[in-house]
Amino acid sequence: MTLIAVVGTGYVGLSTGVGLAELGHEVTCVDIDANKISILNSGRTPIAEAGMDDALGRNLASKNISFSVDVQGSVRTADFVFLCLPTPQADDGSADMSFIFSVCESISSSLKKNAVLVNKSTVPVGSASLVKALLQRDDISVVSNPEFLRQGTALHDFLNPSRVVIGSDDQYAAEKVAELYSKVNAPILKMNAASAEALKYAANSFLATKLTFVNAIADICELVGADIFDVVEGLGLDSRIGSQFLNPGPGWGGSCFPKDTRALVKIAEENGYDFALLRGVIQTNDEHYERVAQRIIDSCDGVVDNKTLAVWGLTFKAHTDDLRDSPSIAILTILNNHGMSVKAYDPSAKGPYASIPWVEVCTSPIEACRDADVLAVLTEWPEFSVVEPTDVAEVLLGKHVIDGRNVLDREKWISAGFTYRGVGR
Ligand code: UGA
Repeated sequence: MTLIAVVGTGYVGLSTGVGLAELGHEVTCVDIDANKISILNSGRTPIAEAGMDDALGRNLASKNISFSVDVQGSVRTADFVFLCLPTPQADDGSADMSFIFSVCESISSSLKKNAVLVNKSTVPVGSASLVKALLQRDDISVVSNPEFLRQGTALHDFLNPSRVVIGSDDQYAAEKVAELYSKVNAPILKMNAASAEALKYAANSFLATKLTFVNAIADICELVGADIFDVVEGLGLDSRIGSQFLNPGPGWGGSCFPKDTRALVKIAEENGYDFALLRGVIQTNDEHYERVAQRIIDSCDGVVDNKTLAVWGLTFKAHTDDLRDSPSIAILTILNNHGMSVKAYDPSAKGPYASIPWVEVCTSPIEACRDADVLAVLTEWPEFSVVEPTDVAEVLLGKHVIDGRNVLDREKWISAGFTYRGVGR
């Protein structure tokens, strides 16, 4: 049986560890956070990920997976060490590599002879070579194996990927990593490490660009009397464009797109290329938050400092519990700076997620609307679409609804007496 250590148990590390265990490997996941490790050892998952609880329980029972805080001890016997560490945005927009570098330094002398170090974190092009140099171990190969997992469906995406990318200048090591995925039904692309690292940034930046484009087209649709639903349907049927990732919204966010787009601009700049297109995408997305906020201000006749907004949805997208770089929070922050009060309902906003001091977190969509002046939908949780507008009409003071995700039934809300404003129509 292949022994694998996975360093870092965020949503990438946990999905990778549990996914590799599901594929039949023996995995130890390591993290410096002792509390998280004890939660995981007890069979509970600290993050909301579909299917994770069951898969974790199954693999703990079969002893395919274990959790530890002992990084040196865990890598000592591992044939493969997967790095799933954060690469947050540094002040200048570049990816901060300090977690990767410090773990590599600390494990270098403990790594088993001829082990393969597999990097899953999103890292600047050239990082595999830097890590290899840092390790000062000729017997250790470094392989880039970027992830394309979406939060919320990360375990499913790990086991059913569109492609497995393996980047290394060492063909033997690349082959060994490919074997780990032999039970996965997907094309395995082998390339050099720089290409794999570049591909990861290119994928996220392309998707962000696609969304910014569709958000701009939605705005234009509103100005010219077109309907984004019809436009998107017609766009998506062109297989060169594809129908996915065409839902207009309040702008993109989350823990990946904002930092990865900025990091790619920085990588390009450091190599003498001004990536004006991607800079424009980032700026347009930021301006999009402002436009959504302005739409809410306009619904209050331009004055919000004595008004209360009811908001449905705080997370950066549905089916996660993650508020990091959430468009909803960005828009609410703009409104709060204008003096607006906020009452919010989000199905997963519990515990620490409810702790934005100026947001009053409510226990239901209707409670959020009670005595508020205007309602805005900022995350596409399916449960919002089944709330009866007549129930909202009984508690909301005003009549304006801003549907920032196009999830409500426009005709029904208009029939209930609301002034409905969706996106792109
Ligand atoms: C993203 C990528 O989709 C993954 O492939 C990648 O592995 C991951 O980043 C990462 O680098 O780790 P994720 O951050 O989970 O995954 O979020 P997405 O599902 O891509 O959504 C990103 C943003 O776009 C969200 O704010 C979402 O609401 C928005 N979005 C997405 C739309 O506004 N419309 C859409 O049609 C799709």
